[in-house]
Amino acid sequence: MPSARHPSPRRRPGLLGRFSKDLLALIVPAAAVVAGVGLLGCAPNGAKHLDSGEPLQPPSAFAAVADDAERSQAMFAEAARVLLHPRCVNCHPSDDSPRQLDSSRMHVPRVTRGTKGDGAAGLRCASCHQSENLSFTRVPGAPHWQLAPIEMAWFGKTPREVCEQLKDPARNGGRDADALVEHMRTDPLVAWGWDPGADRAPVPGDQNTFADLIRAWLDTGAVCPPDTTTPGAAS
Ligand code: HEC
Ligand code: HEC
Repeated sequence: MPSARHPSPRRRPGLLGRFSKDLLALIVPAAAVVAGVGLLGCAPNGAKHLDSGEPLQPPSAFAAVADDAERSQAMFAEAARVLLHPRCVNCHPSDDSPRQLDSSRMHVPRVTRGTKGDGAAGLRCASCHQSENLSFTRVPGAPHWQLAPIEMAWFGKTPREVCEQLKDPARNGGRDADALVEHMRTDPLVAWGWDPGADRAPVPGDQNTFADLIRAWLDTGAVCPPDTTTPGAAS
C-alpha cells in the first residue's frame, strides 16, 4: 500500500523563521503569565488526594476488624475516598468559589456563591449549569446545582475534620443519622459524583455502597479516625 502521507508544504525559511521568532517573543512571556496565574489559581490547601481507583470496599470487607471503634474508623476512612474526592470538594469549598477538574483549580470564569449559594446576581450557576451534564460544552449539571453552604466546607480538610463536621447538626444541615444516610444515598448532587460527564473521573464505587459505609460507620458509634488518617488508609 502506498503511504497516504501528505507532501510537506513548501517552506520559506527566511520569512517563516523570522516570523516565528517574533511570535515566540510574544508567546513565551504570555505563557509565563498564564502559567503564573494558573499556579496562583491553585489554592495552597487544595485537594490533597487523588483516588487510587480501587473498588470501594463495602462494610462486609471490614468484618474481620473485631473492635467496633476500629471498624468504625476504618469504614469512615474508606468512605472518605468519596467525600474528599475532587468531584465532591470542588463544590464544598472553604471560601466563596467553586473549584474545577482533578487539580481543583479555581473555577473559570471566577464565580462566587452569592447570598444563597446559587451564584451572584448576573452570574447564577444555572445560567451555565443545567439539570444534566451537557456533553458538547463540558458543563456538568444536576438538579439545583449550587455551592454547599460554607459551614459544610470540606475542601483542604482531613478525613477526621470532615468526620467531626458530619456529626455536628450545626454543620450538616441539622441532619440526624437517618437524614444523613438518606442524603448520601439519594441526593442528585451526590449522585452526580458517579456520573460526572465529559472526561471527569467519577468518585469510586457506587452510591449505595457509599451510603452503606456511612450507615455502618454510624451504627458502630460514628468514631472518627485519627488526625493522620488519609482517605482509604485504614482499609
Ligand atoms: C454542585 C455542587 C455539589 C456537589 C458536586 C456536591 N455537593 Fe454536597 N452539597 C451541596 C449543597 C448545595 C448542599 C446543601 C444541601 C442541603 O443541605 O440540603 C450539600 C450538602 C451535602 C451533604 C449534607 C450536609 C453535610 O455536610 O453533612 C452531604 C453529606 C453532601 N453534600 C455530600 C456530597 C458528596 C458525597 C458529594 C460527592 C459525591 C457531593 N456532596 C457533591 C452541593 C454539592
Ligand atoms: C459562565 C458559565 C458558568 C457559570 C456561571 C458557572 N459555571 Fe461552573 N462550570 C462551568 C464549566 C464550563 C465547567 C466545566 C469546566 C471543565 O471541566 O472544563 C464548570 C465546572 C464546575 C464545577 C467542577 C466540576 C468538577 O469536579 O470538575 C463545579 C463544582 C462548578 N462548576 C460549580 C459552579 C457553581 C457552584 C456555580 C455558581 C456559583 C457555577 N459553577 C457557575 C461553567 C460555569
